[in-house]
Amino acid sequence: MAYENILFEVKDNVGILTINRPKVLNALNPKTLDEIEDVIDRISEENLARVLVITGAGDKAFVAGADISEFPKMNSLQARLFAKKGQDIFFKIEELPIPVIACVNGYALGGGCELAMSCDFIYASEKARFGQPEINLGIIPGFGGTQRLARLVGRAKAKEICMTGMQLSALEAKELGLVAQVFKPEELIDKTMEVAKSMANKAMVALRAIKEVINKGLEIDLRTGCALEAEAFATSFSSEDAKEGATAFLEKRKPVFKGSLIN
Ligand code: COA
Repeated sequence: MAYENILFEVKDNVGILTINRPKVLNALNPKTLDEIEDVIDRISEENLARVLVITGAGDKAFVAGADISEFPKMNSLQARLFAKKGQDIFFKIEELPIPVIACVNGYALGGGCELAMSCDFIYASEKARFGQPEINLGIIPGFGGTQRLARLVGRAKAKEICMTGMQLSALEAKELGLVAQVFKPEELIDKTMEVAKSMANKAMVALRAIKEVINKGLEIDLRTGCALEAEAFATSFSSEDAKEGATAFLEKRKPVFKGSLIN
């Protein structure tokens, strides 16, 4: 698929997906969603990258939401399909077996905030703004916002954000646990790439297990979650990279992980 609305490249095993519609602050229309899905499918089927970074083109926005110009064309059934389409793609991101970092360079509103929340963690520029402003359009979030936001920041704060349409600064979002780290705008991409490249050199079986166990564990009771952890611990323990990790420690040298997915 030739991409019109996104850019995708791989550098040092790190995939960089850039939503590229800066004139409309990278708003997500159906074609952009299709292109994002195509990249995510290719990464998972063809092992194109060991870490994925998602960001927005230009210096103003990560993604300012679903493309509002599409809304007048939609009836209720089409709106349901549009919500389902976005949700399915964001689940694919959440379930991608490699770490995904949202590199939020500006507005992350509506679908932009929802896209960022489907990533494993968010690095934000000091200029970033987060929010679910759908209430100001007379609608509600549709790409998982009500659900992921409440899980991330708690019920009361999620309701306040969705019911008022308020915007949060990067620092406010960090205080709430929505954002992992905040950087100066000019440093954001370099700092993000530094962390991404460092993770790309780590043990892939273990990274995949951490992602899966934390994601699944948050949906279930503690005892069942710990049982999942023990299983995943065993899987990581028997990986090629685990042998290298222990051997390198005992030989007092830095480990050289192959990043193989062989257990
Ligand atoms: N969908 C479609 N177009 C959008 C958009 C969206 N979600 N967000 C911004 N744009 C477009 C604007 O229509 C404008 O296009 P134009 O130049 O042809 O008029 C362009 O992007 C720049 O946006 P503008 O509103 O002029 O920038 P601003 O700096 O004044 O305001 C925002 C920035 C993000 C506060 C404002 O654009 C906004 O509120 N966007 C909508 C956010 C939203 O409600 N998202 C949830 C959608 S469900």
